[in-house]
Amino acid sequence: MAEPQVPILVAVAWPYASGSRHLGHLAGAYLPADVFARFQRLAGNRVLMVSGSDVHGTPITVRADAEGVTPAEIADRYHAEFLDAWERLAISWDCYTSTGTENHAAVTHDIFLRLLEKGYIDRRTSDQFYDAEADRFLPDRYIEGTCPHCGYAEARGDQCEDCGRTLDPEELVDPRSKITGAEPEVRSTEHFYLRLSDFEESLGSWLDSREGWRRHVLNFSKGWIEEGLQDRAITRDLDWGVAVPVDDLGPGKRIYVWFEAVIGYLSAAKEWAQRQGDSEAWRDWWEGDDARSVYFIGKDNIPFHTIIWPAMLSGYGGLNLPTDVPANQYLTFKGGKASASRGVGLTIGEGLRLFEPDGLRYALAASLPEQSDTDISVEEIVRRINEELIATWGNLVNRVLSMVHARCDGAVPEPGDRTDADTELVADVDAALVSAADQIDRVELRAALRTAMEAAAGVNAYLNATEPWKLAETDPDRARVVLGTALDAVNGVRVAFTPYLPFSSAALEEVIGPVDAWRRPELSPGMPIGKPPPLFAKVDVEELFADDDGEPG
Ligand code: MF3
Ligand code: ZN
Repeated sequence: MAEPQVPILVAVAWPYASGSRHLGHLAGAYLPADVFARFQRLAGNRVLMVSGSDVHGTPITVRADAEGVTPAEIADRYHAEFLDAWERLAISWDCYTSTGTENHAAVTHDIFLRLLEKGYIDRRTSDQFYDAEADRFLPDRYIEGTCPHCGYAEARGDQCEDCGRTLDPEELVDPRSKITGAEPEVRSTEHFYLRLSDFEESLGSWLDSREGWRRHVLNFSKGWIEEGLQDRAITRDLDWGVAVPVDDLGPGKRIYVWFEAVIGYLSAAKEWAQRQGDSEAWRDWWEGDDARSVYFIGKDNIPFHTIIWPAMLSGYGGLNLPTDVPANQYLTFKGGKASASRGVGLTIGEGLRLFEPDGLRYALAASLPEQSDTDISVEEIVRRINEELIATWGNLVNRVLSMVHARCDGAVPEPGDRTDADTELVADVDAALVSAADQIDRVELRAALRTAMEAAAGVNAYLNATEPWKLAETDPDRARVVLGTALDAVNGVRVAFTPYLPFSSAALEEVIGPVDAWRRPELSPGMPIGKPPPLFAKVDVEELFADDDGEPG
């Protein structure tokens, strides 16, 4: 586990403000980042958790064209929707902003100009697809065709959603314009390029020296380098995006969304610092040798975070490269990947209409696609909430607090004469907290949640073995010792659940006091214990499916 007071940048993928995000996105990036950040704060570290809405790029313009509105209208609509979702889920951002700010443009320009000055960016003429009917150049996402790798017929010019490979539009077999359906023609155009090939060696050895990274992330990234790093155009023929800070190319060009979106991590940290009234405060997370930066993303974003962004950072100089990029695989929903662009799966809003936020957070955290694609369904979420969260944890809290309230005069009992088994129970809970800390620190969030559940199950087993409800009649003194022990144990287990379940944890704090560090808080004998608060409501699956067509919602 990390030493206390380490600055930790929790950098979270910037969601395209082009449509509602799905439970797959929540499980892929936002929820794991939030669990990790909440843990690190309790562990005493200095967390800066940043992200924002990605308001540029063709996902937004494609949608705006389809609806006949401006890109800004689309971006504003979904940015507002995301802010609402984060609040309802209690995602604990230190700064959630957008790529549409002046600050972001300024930070992007600074990086672009420094890379240009150092010769890592140059200017080239290239051939590009042009839609003669629409009289415009076609950005990558405006071209569709057949994937040369897997044969998927609807691959986009930038990436194949089926096999996940990034593409250049010229690689597509049978390309067509998304605007008119026409076969695009080729015309020449001038653009700035990032000389990624200059970084092939240094990034290769950097990746070789990474320890503790997920295997699939390292394999994918090293594979990219082994195929040879290609220089990449970082401007586009578009009128929506961050302006190019030099006028050599003439009008109608913008910085490519992927070049500037990753810069958002830095611009958000700077925006946060300005808001603190100390505009240099971001440096602790970006320049310190002791600082860590952990990037929470889905696997389709891996090369941008393990290769392109590190190349930009090392070209710029003086800023920390990612410490870890624990990218998740896909959360599949009833067999199909939860994807905004293909409209599969439940949106976050739909998830929150069906389930309480802690219940949803629990079910997704228990199914995080950390090592492989993971399938989930509404029925599975219901089962996890009712049969795991409530059956094991909710009922335990309820049982123990009710019995203490009723049998110990509504106050924390004196420890009394504890047996070895009593002492061992509490020691086991304390040990579970140490294991969970280690697991969360390594971003094994599913495992840490299992550790918490097993600790809760251990307390349930203790109660079933000691039967304090019977002891209350036959041996009230012993009953108080047992209940005091169980209360201590519950008080420790709740710490392990705190990063996952912010709402019920806050309700519990009202009754047994705050959790302000990653350890079992002291409970003073005599401290009043009120009636247990309702933590979770059981989900009635009949009701979820009641209204109509067998579809949830
Ligand atoms: N907007 C991109 C997506 O949704 C993610 C961008 S992550 C960033 O796939 F770091 F580049 F911002
Ligand atoms: Zn493919």
